Amino acid sequence: MKITVVGSGFVGQTTAMRLLEKGLGEVCLIDIIEGKPQGIALDLRQAAPIEGYEPAIVGTNDYAETAGSDLVVITAGFPRQPGMSRMDLLAKNAEIVSSVVDAVVPGSPDAIIIVVSNPLDEMTFLAAERSGFPRQRVMGMAGVLDSARLRWFIAEELGVSPSVVEAMTLGSHGEQMVALPRHATVDGRPLPELVDAATLDRLFQRTRDAGAEIVGLLKTGSAYYAPSAAVVAMARAIALDTKETLPVCAWTTGQFGIADVYLGVPARLGREGVEDIVEIDLNDEELAQLRTAAEAIRSKCRDLAGL
Ligand code: 2OP
Repeated sequence: MKITVVGSGFVGQTTAMRLLEKGLGEVCLIDIIEGKPQGIALDLRQAAPIEGYEPAIVGTNDYAETAGSDLVVITAGFPRQPGMSRMDLLAKNAEIVSSVVDAVVPGSPDAIIIVVSNPLDEMTFLAAERSGFPRQRVMGMAGVLDSARLRWFIAEELGVSPSVVEAMTLGSHGEQMVALPRHATVDGRPLPELVDAATLDRLFQRTRDAGAEIVGLLKTGSAYYAPSAAVVAMARAIALDTKETLPVCAWTTGQFGIADVYLGVPARLGREGVEDIVEIDLNDEELAQLRTAAEAIRSKCRDLAGL
């Protein structure tokens, strides 16, 4: 599997590293900054004898080298600065994502695209429109990250290993993130039996704000270790055709009563991309929240058309 990672910022470089360490394919790291992707690729090849992975990575500034990619991960774009919302990046990153898609698609017409650039849901829609690819081959990474953050906060709160915590977030990668307390479990026990409503709220709010909390601490740039881990979980499901159900930003076609919008939903991933959207059981309140998220994203996507 040939995997192109566009953007050699922290998310791009840690994604490349994790892909190599997991042996998921040959990696092509591309950036417009001269020397940077080449330098990172060289560094990663030099770690191969120690880590014991295949040194299958090239760094480049030339899109010709991305040709024949099976998977393209788009991380290019400006990260948030303290005080900025993901939405503040809309216009700037729309330009960048459009130019990346235009450059990458001719050489890799059969690729699957995973968008990571923010604002995530809108950039995923833009990449789908611009590429002209079937929508099942264009998806965005956010739900795996947001769910991991929630799982960690629950584990920390209860003093348990995150490995025994299951939880999923849907909706948008932002204010309209939908937390699903009824679906969260700790050692198989429903979370609402273990903590009170105020604690649930606090954990979900911290999850919604988790990206901003890290931006505030780092002062320059945003999170990358958990984001790249989330991308690679998706890449693995696609490369190994696992058919795992992961929360991802996917094109809806009537599931949950929602259609024609990119939205965080549980999706079965495999070699064809988003192979199915899994309609888990949601109650009226959860459905209402998901629909609110869908409408917020739909309206922002309309703004995109006006840029
Ligand atoms: C995050 O949530 C930057 O959106 C990214 O950390």
